Amino acid sequence: MLFKQQVLLRQKLFVLGSLAIGSLLYLVARVGSLDRLQPLCPIDGRFGPRSQDEIPLRALQFKRGLLHEFRKGNATKEQIRLHNLVQQLPKAIIIGVRKGGTRALLEMLNLHPAVVKASQEIHFFDNDENYAKGTEWYRKKMPFSYPHQITIEKSPAYFITEEVPERIYKMNSSIKLLIIVREPTTRAISDYTQVLEGKERKNKTYYKFEKLAIDPNTCEVNTKYKAVRTSIYTKHLERWLKYFPIEQFHIVDGDRLITEPLPELQLVEKFLNLPPRISQYNLYFNATRGFYCLRFNIVFNKCLAGSKGRIHPEVDTSVITKLRKFFHPFNQKFYQITGRTFNWP
Ligand code: A3P
Repeated sequence: MLFKQQVLLRQKLFVLGSLAIGSLLYLVARVGSLDRLQPLCPIDGRFGPRSQDEIPLRALQFKRGLLHEFRKGNATKEQIRLHNLVQQLPKAIIIGVRKGGTRALLEMLNLHPAVVKASQEIHFFDNDENYAKGTEWYRKKMPFSYPHQITIEKSPAYFITEEVPERIYKMNSSIKLLIIVREPTTRAISDYTQVLEGKERKNKTYYKFEKLAIDPNTCEVNTKYKAVRTSIYTKHLERWLKYFPIEQFHIVDGDRLITEPLPELQLVEKFLNLPPRISQYNLYFNATRGFYCLRFNIVFNKCLAGSKGRIHPEVDTSVITKLRKFFHPFNQKFYQITGRTFNWP
């Protein structure tokens, strides 16, 4: 009898304990997400004054799940009308640089409640066929958003494609342009690694990096090799500066975005005139991945795909030295133009 009572008591305690833990977890979840929901200050500045019928940021956060469905194209006409959703042309574009950390930057900016990302690379300005479809086609490729949110897209090919600056200028001469760069030699090797992986997937063989980066006839850096050319940042930027003043660009340090993302993101928030809403809470280091991952709230977090953060092949040190020496003067010019100095060798 006594034994049975003890068992019953234990069962009751177990149920009560589970309920208490459940409630505690729920409270932690609420506090965690509420922390993100509280606006520090209203969106102001370049996005114009808030009109009566705009939805406050606080409400936007609650509706993120809903918005996610809309972005996937699951919105009915009624829902779009009801929530006043629109597909807006981007107010800012991450124009490059390929392998600089463009995906990480876009995903991290998307943590901001006033930012909505175009998930896919649209390739509107660099692809003649797409460009011929017109700006309305481009706009329709954008995700649904609330009117006072801003849309951002990224297509790293824009940075190096000849026609793109003029085309973007024609669409919006005051657009904000983000460029994320890494130490040029590392970026070139990262670029090579991506191509190499593509070849291996198709069971094809490929040249070693050293063979592509160095011209075998002259033993000098092969400037015809695309991965090298892309890393000459100043050459590309100078083309852009024929259309846009330097104030319209913001340079992101892609190497620092890997090791210490928050300060880089805060600089971008400032550049975009957004209230500072991305916090350390939104970024946590995942030791298994070896990278920072994203935390939207206590239940929803994600790391970037495995294709981001590949292991690079080992490259002959003399080739690395040669490349670094080659990039050096271009880097100096880049620092001078942008007003941002990096500790590149
Ligand atoms: P590696 O694969 O060479 O390491 P992009 O998105 O422009 O293609 O850039 C890819 C690079 O983003 C990766 O290059 C990786 O180093 C970098 N990166 C920056 N932050 C990252 C993050 N949080 N998770 C994964 N990769 C990140």
